[in-house]
Amino acid sequence: MADEIKTFKVTIDNITIDVPAGTTVLNAARQIGGDVAPPAMCYYSKLQGSGGKCRTCLVEVAAGSTADPRPMPKLVASCRTTVMDGMIVKNITSEKVKDARAGVVEFLLLNHPLDCPICDQAGECHLQDLGYEHGKEGTRYEFPRRTFEKEDIGPYIQLHMTRCILCYRCTYVADQLTDKRVHGILDRGEHAEISTYISKAVDNEFSGNMIDVCPVGALTDKTFRFKNRVWFTKPVDAHRSCNTPSCCGNTTLWLRGEEVFRVTARKDEWGEVKSYDGKPGWICNTCRFDKKKTSDWTIEGVTKLNRHSVISQGKYEGLVMPKETIQEVMGGREPKLLMNIHDESEVNNPKIHLSEINGPAHSENFEN
Ligand code: SF4
Ligand code: FES
Repeated sequence: MADEIKTFKVTIDNITIDVPAGTTVLNAARQIGGDVAPPAMCYYSKLQGSGGKCRTCLVEVAAGSTADPRPMPKLVASCRTTVMDGMIVKNITSEKVKDARAGVVEFLLLNHPLDCPICDQAGECHLQDLGYEHGKEGTRYEFPRRTFEKEDIGPYIQLHMTRCILCYRCTYVADQLTDKRVHGILDRGEHAEISTYISKAVDNEFSGNMIDVCPVGALTDKTFRFKNRVWFTKPVDAHRSCNTPSCCGNTTLWLRGEEVFRVTARKDEWGEVKSYDGKPGWICNTCRFDKKKTSDWTIEGVTKLNRHSVISQGKYEGLVMPKETIQEVMGGREPKLLMNIHDESEVNNPKIHLSEINGPAHSENFEN
């Protein structure tokens, strides 16, 4: 007879669940879901060894276990702490946690620029969400922030180190998905930075996954940069049979009309790539950067997004058009547009396909 799986009872924010022994507090909280799950900027369940760097997932352990119900003296990182039987944990019900998390956000933002209006990650940035949900209105930091030049690391990825929060996720991707890592974290403390050191190109077939795991706008897709804001695009689930070994071929296409602006892996509610048959759904660079036509894909339907995400605005499923009443109130006359912007201006010329322009679009792209 197979051994019975040992389970532990854990109570998080007054909700009790049973989880297998060895489960971390963070993963137990994710099983409950919603606000009970602490935010995680460095932990990534599909990357071994991730977590323990950023401290955003701090929780209070009000009772260690049934056997030893003493509270833990300090807040603990929930991504690195495993549950014990009878453990009582406080996340959003703890004032200490809320205060500490606001402090962690303040530290993460010490050097991170507040350039969301021009950052490609805006709308899907975990640090932006963290700042809004747990941060404070102001900063007490008065010193110059450290800045870096933007760096092209390979043909498809741009590194903007100024935005990096040193979560290490991209280095784990390079270690665990590619055969030889050519970038990493150099130097220590205030001087630590992500780099290839000798401006070496990151050209592995799975390097694009570094963009997907980056929680901020430090690693961006050069084929999509400045082409569009994500909330103006329409994400759809799509697949193709890909010949690259280990590529799952299941993606999200980010469309504007019929144009494919961007291809990414599909993400779950925690912002991590989804799993297929128990394996993470990483995608190859051919699917991500070379298949930019809808005819390359079998489209399954509109991607289901969290209702609270800015990207979900105006993309609800089952939307019913309200009854058109203009003609009725105008005594049967058809409404007439005052002017068609495309007749008047070459800017935004609909015949120019932004997704086919290499890099950001400039005014020259619209000249006759
Ligand atoms: S570049 Fe992005 S993924 Fe890599 S360490 Fe910095 S924040 Fe993390
Ligand atoms: S998510 Fe736990 S320390 Fe970063």
